[in-house]
Amino acid sequence: MAISLNGATTGFEPNVGLFYELAASWHEDATLTGADTILAQEQALAAAPRPGPAKDGPLLIVVDGKGRVREWEALRNAGHWSDVLALHADATPARPPQRAVRELIVGHERVDLPAALTAIGELGGINVVRVDSGGALTGALLQAGLIDEISLLVHPCMTGPPDSRHWYGTEPTAVDRLEHIASKSFNDGLVWLRYRLPK
Ligand SMILES: NC(=O)c1ccc[n+]([C@@H]2O[C@H](COP(=O)([O-])OP(=O)(O)OC[C@H]3O[C@@H](n4cnc5c(N)ncnc54)[C@H](OP(=O)(O)O)[C@@H]3O)[C@@H](O)[C@H]2O)c1
Repeated sequence: MAISLNGATTGFEPNVGLFYELAASWHEDATLTGADTILAQEQALAAAPRPGPAKDGPLLIVVDGKGRVREWEALRNAGHWSDVLALHADATPARPPQRAVRELIVGHERVDLPAALTAIGELGGINVVRVDSGGALTGALLQAGLIDEISLLVHPCMTGPPDSRHWYGTEPTAVDRLEHIASKSFNDGLVWLRYRLPK
């Protein structure tokens, strides 16, 4: 995640170029994101060029428990992903018939995140999942013990109102000791931190 020094994921201008350059080092098989992250860019996406699916790109998987995402076709054709997959729950409102997205139903009231990760693993060919989240989804995955590694690109600014989104969500998970994997600083004051969660 791109964060400010005080841990916010929004309210500042991230270095998007460096962020995606570093993100590419995982060679993810799937990008897992939340509906709110998609909705924040849906308008821009609707107007963006659509070069078509990226043949060798990752699968985009969106946790969308409330069925709020609409621009599936634009996401598929944005040129970043090979395809799109929606994660829903039994309680997700009815979707338009024949909409252009595959879906997995996992959970009753909300998407059951452990069951979702198991189902994703069973699709075959997906070993590395990179989470691209504003914090709510990452926080929930952390609490469920589903994160192997945390990667933070820290920007040299303090930002946001007190209720701004933090990378760990709203209820930070207590973790005894994270293992330092790597850190690197860049000319413009950005610092990249990588930590492994204990098993
Ligand atoms: N700085 C960065 O690196 C970065 C990266 C990505 C996005 N962002 C920004 O972050 C903002 C959006 O972030 P956000 O934190 O509001 O949302 P988010 O991380 O996109 O997560 C929201 C999604 O997580 C699901 N969720 C949360 N807790 C859950 C739980 N316990 N069980 C099941 N599902 C759960 C929600 O489910 P429902 O569908 O049921 O509501 C929703 O789909 C946007 O402004 C975006 O631009 C920043």
